[in-house]
Amino acid sequence: MKQVKKLPLTDECHHWTRLGEVPWDLQKYWQQRYTIFPYYNEGIYMTEAAWYGVTPEPVANQIAHEHGSIISSSKTTVIDLFAGVGANAISLALATTPDGTTPRWEKVIAIELDPATLACAQHNASLHGVADDIIWVLGDSFKFLETLLGSPEKLENDLQVNVAATALFASPPWGGPGYRTDEIFDLSTMEPYNLATLHEAYRTMDHALYLPRTSDLRQVAKLIPDGTKIEVVQYCVEGASKALVAYIPAAKDEDIRMET
Ligand SMILES: C[S@@+](CC[C@H](N)C(=O)[O-])C[C@H]1O[C@@H](n2cnc3c(N)ncnc32)[C@H](O)[C@@H]1O
Repeated sequence: MKQVKKLPLTDECHHWTRLGEVPWDLQKYWQQRYTIFPYYNEGIYMTEAAWYGVTPEPVANQIAHEHGSIISSSKTTVIDLFAGVGANAISLALATTPDGTTPRWEKVIAIELDPATLACAQHNASLHGVADDIIWVLGDSFKFLETLLGSPEKLENDLQVNVAATALFASPPWGGPGYRTDEIFDLSTMEPYNLATLHEAYRTMDHALYLPRTSDLRQVAKLIPDGTKIEVVQYCVEGASKALVAYIPAAKDEDIRMET
C-alpha cells in the first residue's frame, strides 16, 4: 500500500453552487453546507455519498482539539482510518499544542478506499493549506493496519511509523438497520464494520471511535476492562448532538492475554 500524492478530481466530485444542480435526495444536506463546511464557497468538493457521512467542520475541529489533549502527548502520529472528503484529517493537521505554537501531530496519515473521495479530500485540504502536511493513502485501512502491526517492512519508509507513538481516529460508515430510527443503536448491526470488527483491529492502540449519537454505550463499556474509565463525548451543533466519540486507550498486554 502506497501514499498517493495528488489524485485528479473526477466526474464523481462536485462543487454544487445552485439547488437545481443537486440531486433531490441530497438537497437537505446541501442546504446545510455552511454548517458542514463554513468555507464551502471557497470551492469545497464532495462526492454524492460523502454528504451522508462527512463530519461537520466545527465538530471535526473540536474533536481534533480534544483528541490532541485526551490522547497522551507521547503519541506524535495520528492515522485517520476513514478519511472521506477530509474534514477530520484537515482538522487533525491544523491542530496545535495548547500554546498554539506547534502542530499537535508530527505526522498525519489519512487513508481512504475510494479514489474520487480521496481526490476531494486532497483538494479540500489544499484549500485549507494542509494538503502537503498529510500523508495520503489510497486503500483499505484494515489491511494497512494489519501490515503496520505484522510486517511493517512491506510499507514504504514514510508509512513505517512507530506504533507505540501512534494514535488512531476512526469515523467508519454507519450503515445498517436502525441507526437513524432506533432510540438506542445496536453497534453490532453497524455495516459494513461493526463494533467488534473495529475493536479487534484497533485494540492494541489508543483510538477514538466516531459513532452515532444514540450508540449503545453498554456495548462500548464492554470493550474495556472492568473499573477502567474512558471519555465519551457528545458533539453538538446548534444544540443538537451530531455524534459521539469514544476515546479508548490501548489494551494492556495482560488484558490481551486474558482475552485470548
Ligand atoms: C463516514 S465516511 C468518513 C467521513 C470523514 N470523516 C469526513 O469527514 O469526510 C467513511 C469513509 O470511509 C471510507 N471507507 C470505507 N471502508 C474503508 C476502508 N476499509 N478503508 C478506508 N476507507 C474506507 C468510505 O469510502 C467513506 O469515504
